[in-house]
Amino acid sequence: MAAEVLDALKPRANGRYADGTLGGAGHAAQLLAASSPTGWLSGCDRDGVAVEAAQKRLAEKFTGRFEIRRGNFSEMAGWIPAASCNGVLLDLGVSSPQLDSAERGFSFQNDGPLDMRMDDQQKLTAANLVNDLEAEALAKIFWEFGDERDSRRFARAIVHDRALRKFQTTRQLADLIGRLAPRHGKKSHPATKVFQALRIAVNDEIGSLKCGLDAAVKILRPGGRLAVITFHSLEDRVVKEFGRERTRDYTFSGEVDVPELRSPRVPELKWVSRKAILPGEAELKENPRSRSAQLRVLEKN
Ligand SMILES: C[S@@+](CC[C@H](N)C(=O)[O-])C[C@H]1O[C@@H](n2cnc3c(N)ncnc32)[C@H](O)[C@@H]1O
Repeated sequence: MAAEVLDALKPRANGRYADGTLGGAGHAAQLLAASSPTGWLSGCDRDGVAVEAAQKRLAEKFTGRFEIRRGNFSEMAGWIPAASCNGVLLDLGVSSPQLDSAERGFSFQNDGPLDMRMDDQQKLTAANLVNDLEAEALAKIFWEFGDERDSRRFARAIVHDRALRKFQTTRQLADLIGRLAPRHGKKSHPATKVFQALRIAVNDEIGSLKCGLDAAVKILRPGGRLAVITFHSLEDRVVKEFGRERTRDYTFSGEVDVPELRSPRVPELKWVSRKAILPGEAELKENPRSRSAQLRVLEKN
């Protein structure tokens, strides 16, 4: 979504930009190139490996024009000055290097430890959840974060199996789900949703996103834009709901929105494109992982 992000944020010289999800710094490099020669970028990632890669890549061409920190984007407003940015980017989810490194434990395609932490300084891993949570709590994760219809059955089977042998590897878990729900010609692996759900839970992705959106608005200056790329409906729902709430021209007292209890206000944000922007044909061909990406853009009033 490189072209779409540039089109949304319209980087220019002297502009200040924040990238809360640096990854390999692909987008960050483009923001810096497009805002040459004086644009500035503040960037972070919670993954130490990504921060190192981003630092190296950006230093090749943009020395003196960026600041990078390791950390959660939910804490961006703690180090990026309020109302300072012309554009903020959140490109959510996991990166290809994370997915492709077996030892990070994100993927059921490669066998690795059942880990799934974006930040390896964090204690909680996927193995902790799978081996320690009660069946009901596990099922709730599979249902809420994975939309997994068989959440209860899978959770009960996990609890049964782990009494015999703790879950240590991605293959162990993927094989169990595969036995419980054979593919029957379906394209996706039966463990896809369970893995997504565990990853979201381990990294508290929804909690971080809610705080991150709030932080992004704080660091944006009036007229500045927020671009968010989501990869599944749960994330997208959070962004849509956030946008709906902050673009409303009234507040309401009480639990429900009834016209009698509304008071007018100037909305904090406006939609630049209310409809999600989807990747083009060429990108889908080149990068099949982009098929579920959706970009939404908001502007601060
Ligand atoms: C899809 S990749 C970003 C790729 C990047 N835009 C690029 O061009 O290379 C997502 C990155 O965001 C990071 N990430 C996800 N949630 C985060 C959070 N709450 N705080 C900081 N980084 C996060 C992940 O570690 C991963 O490196």
